[in-house]
Amino acid sequence: MLGFTSQIPIVWLLLLLLSTTIFERCNSSNTQLGISNCNEKDRSALLLFKLGVENHSSNKLSSWSINEKNCCSWKGVQCDNITGRVTTLDLHQQYLEGEINLQSLFQIEFLTYLDLSLNGFTTLSSFNQSNDHNNNNLSNIQYLDLSFNDDLHLDNLHWLSKFSSLKSLNLSQINLQNQTNWLQSIDMLHVSLLELRLSSCHLTDIFASVKHVSFTNSLATLDLSANHFDSELPAWLFEHGNDMNISHIDLSFNFLKGQIPKSLLSLRKLETLRLSNNELNESIPDWLGQHENLKYLGLAENMFRGSIPSSLGKLSSLVDLSVSSDFLTGNIPTSIGKLFNLKSLVIGGSSLSGVLSEIHFSNLSSLETLVLSAPISFDMDSKWIPPFQLNGISLSNTILGPKFPTWIYTQRSLEYLEIPNSRVSSIDGDIFWRFVTNITHLNLSNNSMSADLSNVTLNSELLFMDHNNFRGGLPHISANVIYLDLSHNSFFGTISPMFCHRLGRENSLDYLDISFNLLTGEIPDCWEYWKGLSFLFMESNMLTGEVPPSMDLFIDLIILDLHNNSLSGNFSLDLSNITNLQFINIGENNFSGTVPVKMPRSMEVMILRSNQFEGNIPPQLCNFSSLIQLDLSHNKLSGSIPKCISNITGMGGAKKTSHYPFEFKLYTKGRDLEYYDYGLLRTLDLSANNLSGEIPSQVFNLVQLKSLNLSRNHFTGKIPRDIGDMKNLESLDLSDNKLVGGIPVTTSTLSFLSFLNLSNNYLVGQIPVGTQLQSFDASYYVGNPGLCGAPLPICDHGSYLHGGHNDIDNDENSFTQSLYFGLGVGFAVGFWCICGPLFLNSAWRHTYFRFLNNVFVVVGFSN
Ligand SMILES: *[C@@H]1O[C@H](CO)[C@@H](O)[C@H](O)[C@H]1NC(C)=O
Ligand SMILES: *[C@@H]1O[C@H](CO)[C@@H](O)[C@H](O)[C@H]1NC(C)=O
Ligand SMILES: *[C@@H]1O[C@H](CO)[C@@H](O)[C@H](O)[C@H]1NC(C)=O
Ligand SMILES: *[C@@H]1O[C@H](CO)[C@@H](O)[C@H](O)[C@H]1NC(C)=O
Ligand SMILES: *[C@@H]1O[C@H](CO)[C@@H](O)[C@H](O)[C@H]1NC(C)=O
Ligand SMILES: *[C@@H]1O[C@H](CO)[C@@H](O)[C@H](O)[C@H]1NC(C)=O
Ligand SMILES: *[C@@H]1O[C@H](CO)[C@@H](O)[C@H](O)[C@H]1NC(C)=O
Ligand SMILES: *[C@@H]1O[C@H](CO)[C@@H](O)[C@H](O)[C@H]1NC(C)=O
Ligand SMILES: *[C@@H]1O[C@H](CO)[C@@H](O)[C@H](O)[C@H]1NC(C)=O
Ligand SMILES: *[C@@H]1O[C@H](CO)[C@@H](O)[C@H](O)[C@H]1NC(C)=O
Ligand SMILES: *[C@@H]1O[C@H](CO)[C@@H](O)[C@H](O)[C@H]1NC(C)=O
Repeated sequence: MLGFTSQIPIVWLLLLLLSTTIFERCNSSNTQLGISNCNEKDRSALLLFKLGVENHSSNKLSSWSINEKNCCSWKGVQCDNITGRVTTLDLHQQYLEGEINLQSLFQIEFLTYLDLSLNGFTTLSSFNQSNDHNNNNLSNIQYLDLSFNDDLHLDNLHWLSKFSSLKSLNLSQINLQNQTNWLQSIDMLHVSLLELRLSSCHLTDIFASVKHVSFTNSLATLDLSANHFDSELPAWLFEHGNDMNISHIDLSFNFLKGQIPKSLLSLRKLETLRLSNNELNESIPDWLGQHENLKYLGLAENMFRGSIPSSLGKLSSLVDLSVSSDFLTGNIPTSIGKLFNLKSLVIGGSSLSGVLSEIHFSNLSSLETLVLSAPISFDMDSKWIPPFQLNGISLSNTILGPKFPTWIYTQRSLEYLEIPNSRVSSIDGDIFWRFVTNITHLNLSNNSMSADLSNVTLNSELLFMDHNNFRGGLPHISANVIYLDLSHNSFFGTISPMFCHRLGRENSLDYLDISFNLLTGEIPDCWEYWKGLSFLFMESNMLTGEVPPSMDLFIDLIILDLHNNSLSGNFSLDLSNITNLQFINIGENNFSGTVPVKMPRSMEVMILRSNQFEGNIPPQLCNFSSLIQLDLSHNKLSGSIPKCISNITGMGGAKKTSHYPFEFKLYTKGRDLEYYDYGLLRTLDLSANNLSGEIPSQVFNLVQLKSLNLSRNHFTGKIPRDIGDMKNLESLDLSDNKLVGGIPVTTSTLSFLSFLNLSNNYLVGQIPVGTQLQSFDASYYVGNPGLCGAPLPICDHGSYLHGGHNDIDNDENSFTQSLYFGLGVGFAVGFWCICGPLFLNSAWRHTYFRFLNNVFVVVGFSN
């Protein structure tokens, strides 16, 4: 031991001695001995660059100190160890902000490598054009990477002209939206560019018809993925044919149309061709099979027609193949079974057909991931031993069942197993659960698996088991589980076996969905074991009793949904310290007492409908300034609407979106509609209570509201003209109240309005004419004895004069204007709004987490 430790200090000491002597010598004799100490000019240029960063963020580049003379030891700086001149500046991912002062970097004459990627720079100081002749030194920079500075918007690329030695240019994820001549700017460089990456730059024009650009002579890598190109594949990419050096082309995630041109065959060095996620709509050419150097071929998520050519089986170098399109027909060719180098195979198409057999996989001994999404059945011998050991299998929307195939059990190193919507109903109990126990990501959604899980312990990190026939008591879960969706099954019994079962260590559960089952009994007071939960869905069961006090321990909770159970008592939890909480739905229960307000200010959605809450609407609700949805309907609330309601800026002020999109059902427009992202909605529903008094004008200041429902109360007074300010309104229900006066003409300026119910009030006068107000059914106006005009019977002179003349007078000026607004726009947009909400016929309950679920597939498809 002693010998060991005593040696280390000696080494250290030597090093220390060495470095101090070097340092001193350098200081005294200034690079005479060929040891790096930086050039004074380079140093001051770097300090100038630092200023641009420092002005926006303090303490960045702190090692770049004025006191440290040797700039070669500064973070990210490398010098030539003979000349002491700065050659490399690599500051990627240093959280830098502010300005990239290019002019200062240009003064570093020997700089060849500049990497400022993955930072937060917002501006790039261009060169001062009028200074150009005094300062026409050209840069030696060969490698320039400014990518992933997401907030950097560049209006032009003129400054690139100085980079006369450039070999590699990466401006990915920089906004070049206004740079309409990007291709020409790069061509003007007249350099031997080897790599060009402009991925995700908001580019719109790929200049498909330009035949000639010179930079493609040398180019080896071209990445133009994730832009907005919507033409055919560009001619300039293929024009030099055999002379071209290009080996890597990525045009995926655009909107490219048409076909793959045969001139592609002349790109003999091509190894990677990524065209996935476009709209290519001709057939997949047969001649592709002649491109024997191809290693990565990405054709997924296009609109290809015809069949998958069997010539693809000739691409013997292929490592990665993805093909999918809903217009592809026919079988999957058996020739793919010859691709012995293949590691990843992705095939998808809802119109493909046929049977996959062992021949399809005969030589795929290198295969690691298999992704298949097509209505294809499997004909494998139950004793088949595949030639591969996969780490990922995704077979979705296939005809895999009814029995879980035995060949999958031969795969000993699986990390992902997804078989959603694949008609599997039968699993071999213990064998299956033992097999999946070490699989990280398991998706069994939307099959009809029926098994009693009360003795099973789940162990995967991500578990999607929704929409099956799993029954019995809830399974046990290990401390590894992060995400668990057991919704839409037939689990029964109480929750306590799962939740009061103490685990060896702190559990990881973040997301739990046990909604839409047959669970009964009380919610157990065992939540102290589950403090890490962020998402908890227990709705649509038959839970009873009060909500246990330990539920306020959920310090990380974001979404809590308990609706449609039979819970009762006061909802007395104090959730005000749960600062992340945004969404609570305790509707359709039997909660009583006053409206709960012990919630954090950040609340966005509060749904308390269909309970027994009584008393007034508490003014504390006005403190929830972020609130975008409030539903207190179908309770026993009385009194009037507090005037402070306009303090809810979420409904009145600037628009913002929420970030947990998941399917969400909302009662609006007279029916239940499913929405995809609650963050986009703004609703206030106070219907079916005993509220009274005039509707305060402040309600009509909530101008972001899309749905306002005050029906079935005792409101009195008139509908104010201000209603015309609620320009976002799509659904308005004031029916079954005691409202008087006319329908303000301003109502017709609500051009998004697609649902209106004013029935059963004391409204009078003529329904404003010539607007979309006529397109609503007459039943939405009936029960107002003094109301007339289309769609109700036409006004006789008497009732018209008697009722509406006040309002008509007031609104005369805006009438013509509203006529124009009301027509056209109102109709079109109204129609859109009806069709707009997404009715996801989903196998997936929570779309936010769908990304987790699709990570694997996306990885597979990303090529
Ligand atoms: C930094 O800010 C100061 C004063 O705000 C200004 O004079 C200076 O020019 C700025 N420097 C850079 C590099 O932006
Ligand atoms: C300069 O640095 C390079 C790379 O670190 C090294 O290979 C080379 O030997 C060094 N030259 C001298 C003279 O120290
Ligand atoms: C341009 O290069 C010349 C010669 O290398 C040098 O003297 C001059 O200072 C440089 N100009 C600038 C602005 O860097
Ligand atoms: C460019 O340089 C000229 C001359 O030095 C100066 O007058 C002008 O203000 C500069 N422009 C900018 C935008 O810095
Ligand atoms: C930018 O492109 C270069 C050249 O292809 C590559 O080496 C580099 O990793 C890219 N930068 C980032 C941040 O991806
Ligand atoms: C593009 O130009 C338009 C009009 O000049 C401007 O409004 C917009 O902000 C610019 N966009 C970017 C990303 O610079
Ligand atoms: C072709 O690309 C390779 C890199 O893949 C590069 O080393 C070579 O210099 C390029 N050839 C030409 C002629 O530019
Ligand atoms: C799961 O992993 C553990 C630990 O790596 C190992 O001991 C066990 O045998 C594995 N179980 C199965 C069924 O593969
Ligand atoms: C669960 O395990 C218990 C005890 O081992 C056994 O009595 C019971 O039948 C099992 N239940 C199921 C559904 O397998
Ligand atoms: C909320 O936090 C405050 C301050 O940390 C604390 O005093 C208070 O007791 C907490 N309330 C609840 C209900 O936990
Ligand atoms: C509503 O906002 C006004 C002005 O900001 C403020 O004076 C008032 O106290 C607020 N009311 C409530 C109940 O928060």
